[in-house]
Amino acid sequence: MMQKGIILAGGKGTRMSPLTKAVNKQLLPLYDKPLIYYPLSILMLAKIRNILIIVNKGQKEQYKKLLPDGKNLGIKISYQEQDKPNGLPEAFKIGEKFIAKSNVALILGDNFFYGQNLTKTLIRGTKIKKGAKVFLHYVKNPELFGVAKISNNNKILKIVEKPKNNFSNYAITGLYFFDNKVVKYAKELKPSRRGETEITDLLKKYLKKRQLNAEIIGRGGSWLDTGSIEDYYQTINFISTIENRQGFKIACIEEIAYKNKWIGKKHLDNQIKFYGNCNYSNYLKKL
Ligand code: DAU
Repeated sequence: MMQKGIILAGGKGTRMSPLTKAVNKQLLPLYDKPLIYYPLSILMLAKIRNILIIVNKGQKEQYKKLLPDGKNLGIKISYQEQDKPNGLPEAFKIGEKFIAKSNVALILGDNFFYGQNLTKTLIRGTKIKKGAKVFLHYVKNPELFGVAKISNNNKILKIVEKPKNNFSNYAITGLYFFDNKVVKYAKELKPSRRGETEITDLLKKYLKKRQLNAEIIGRGGSWLDTGSIEDYYQTINFISTIENRQGFKIACIEEIAYKNKWIGKKHLDNQIKFYGNCNYSNYLKKL
């Protein structure tokens, strides 16, 4: 069973500048909580309790104000800094010691997932023993993402990063499960034309060995992007619509920890004190 996960929460943030000049993108609000809560909640729903957050150089202290060490969530959070955004696969070099001999999940700090059966799908992902697993989602603008072509029985045939010609509408979402070989493979990668190592090149290594599995997040599930400012506000609208209709919060990390029985009432009280008098605390009181 996989128990380790990495959140990659650095990046240049150029597409959202000037919003991201002084504050990292993953600390910006996504409706009523910071963006980083969403990928963190996904790892927690997958029952992953040992989490490394990789942030930009000099930003560790900012993140720690929000998510110190994970104790009040019944998990372990540690941090490492990335010197420069040299590419997503660098996560496995930076995280080599953290990963040690385990399998590992990677989630990009700006990815938002929501939908029925999501928890089951995630837990299935953590159960891979060998190889890698990705989640695909049909989109109308595949040129913005890593894209996979699949066969009738959902086998991946081809992968291209940000393709110029539309050969498939299946985007590769920013959640990946890997076996321990990922550390070795990540070290072998060379930077692409845009000067970064590419996660899709890493996936191709697994594809070549026929060890890349895919699962499709269907139309009932949502994978939303926070890449551009329009997408960012659309995602906020989506969250506000659902939360206000149902009265349940999406990505309330304390609620997930409590329902997983990782924490008790005392920890919830601590978090309520930590957040102070706010709407989010009122929600925690109701739990
Ligand atoms: O969102 C899914 C897509 O993410 C995949 O379909 C693509 O295959 C993958 O390459 C990636 O594409 P993006 O162009 O959207 O990646 P971006 O550079 O925006 O980085 C994604 C997140 O990772 C963002 O929160 C910043 C962070 N990051 C990125 C890089 C390159 C880092 O922390 N360090 C880095 O070196």
